[in-house]
Amino acid sequence: MGHLLQVKDLQTQFTTEAGKVKAVDGVTFHIDEREIVGFVGESGCGKSMTQLSIMQLIPNPPGRIVGGEVLFEGDDLLKYDSGSSEMRNIRGSKISMVFQEPMTSLNPVLTINEQLCETMQLHMGLSRVDARKRAIQLLKEVGIPAAESRIDDYPHQFSGGMRQRVMIAIALACNPKLIIADEPTTALDVTTQAVLLELMKDLVERHNTSLALVTHNLGVVARYAHRIYVMYAGRIVEAGPSRQIFANPRHPYTMGLLGSVPRLDDPRDKELVPIQGLPPNLAKMPSTCAFLPRCPYSTSRCENSPRPSLTEVGERHLAACYLNQEEHALENNK
Ligand SMILES: Nc1ncnc2c1ncn2[C@@H]1O[C@H](COP(=O)(O)OP(=O)(O)OP(=O)(O)O)[C@@H](O)[C@H]1O
Ligand SMILES: [Mg+2]
Repeated sequence: MGHLLQVKDLQTQFTTEAGKVKAVDGVTFHIDEREIVGFVGESGCGKSMTQLSIMQLIPNPPGRIVGGEVLFEGDDLLKYDSGSSEMRNIRGSKISMVFQEPMTSLNPVLTINEQLCETMQLHMGLSRVDARKRAIQLLKEVGIPAAESRIDDYPHQFSGGMRQRVMIAIALACNPKLIIADEPTTALDVTTQAVLLELMKDLVERHNTSLALVTHNLGVVARYAHRIYVMYAGRIVEAGPSRQIFANPRHPYTMGLLGSVPRLDDPRDKELVPIQGLPPNLAKMPSTCAFLPRCPYSTSRCENSPRPSLTEVGERHLAACYLNQEEHALENNK
């Protein structure tokens, strides 16, 4: 069976005063049905632009998708205009998004009932009465107490955590195949984050939905994602099953991330070592490996070679680093 979502060589660029910025620079990945896939990396590495490109929600200008394919259920979404009825239908009922700050995606002048029911009436053809019934059911499912009365409240009447639950209900409303959650809990306190992520995991399992989970927090992806894509400077630099990435990271950047971010399974006294230096300026990319200036393992080969591409380093495990290619070659020659 084919992948639910297959993105091939996606390229999204921004025109800025400093020059052309390759925010998404040839990104290839897939998400299968009922799979939870994590996207991690430091700020500015292209996680959100990758997801927004799938939905064709890149602000244009200054941004533009300039190449690649976004195959959803085998259909290339990039052949449709951003404002086309096909894309509106995809965004309304096939792929939904949950963002970090729900206040910006909820309409402050509409009640929760109005916002939830609008999309169900439009995309599922439900009557007002049936839509309201389903809306109450969904609010119960995401854990809103007294859903029957709270459904007529406005967004500002809910706490941050409760608003995010409402967003999750809206995301689920039309039975999407895929939910894209971009830092869905980052704005919330740690306890609420954990509760909400647990809830999302249960809900996507129950509704047979796939989940793309974008986050800075490696602890979060470790716990929830089946597979992980690590991004750096607009590209994927490592990909593989979560367990492999954690037990046997093969890109020095991933190793750096693992050492610099607290994980749920860390001993309390573990020392955190930040990655030296800063990500490169995307308007002035070198032709060599983008991580080279920060890499503790770089060699002369790295300095004299183009940006390494992803190569297989294990079963379903890929990394874009010469270190691995050499090690791998050595292992193969043994
Ligand atoms: N409106 C814009 N104009 C110009 N460049 C932009 C714009 N939006 C994004 N970019 C470029 O795209 C790059 C990737 O941005 P993106 O939002 O995808 O990063 P991210 O990985 O989601 O970061 P964060 O973790 O902070 O959300 C940025 O580093 C920036 O160079
Ligand atoms: Mg982002």
